[in-house]
Amino acid sequence: MSETLWVPQTSERKEIYEAILPQVRSLLDGEKDRIANMANVAAALKEAFGFFWVGFYVVKEDQLVLGPFQGPIACTRINFNRGVCGHCYTTGATVIVPDVEAFPGHIACSSASKSEIVVPVFDTDQNIIAVLDVDSDTLNDFSEVDAEWLEKVVGLLSK
Ligand code: SME
Repeated sequence: MSETLWVPQTSERKEIYEAILPQVRSLLDGEKDRIANMANVAAALKEAFGFFWVGFYVVKEDQLVLGPFQGPIACTRINFNRGVCGHCYTTGATVIVPDVEAFPGHIACSSASKSEIVVPVFDTDQNIIAVLDVDSDTLNDFSEVDAEWLEKVVGLLSK
């Protein structure tokens, strides 16, 4: 297992996702601990794209609880009916928020966060077990390209 992530020098996100997906897959292949794997996914996304905040909220009893992340400190518990993360949990679908101030109920862990994407993480039985939250300090930073590829990335965590 290589512990160095190779990231192409390009601003083309699709190209970066294409390059890192197989590397993250082989990094996760040898490890079954999901928290360890979430930690490496968060680190790889942070390293590859320099996102402001990348991390997981894990489903625990009746809340989403902060899991492995990279970036500034963040709120620890989110109710299922709150925020972008809660919306992702209840709908089971990826949510792209171009402007967090325009999203009713958005939870501002940091005033620097301007746009975000939240992607559901499913286990092999299709139960939602966590959400991946990626925050940017620029408006309108996420597109369907991010949705498509981040869904592939979190698919590596289902086992
Ligand atoms: N903005 C999220 C909360 C998590 S932080 O951004 C890290 C939300 O509205 O659910």
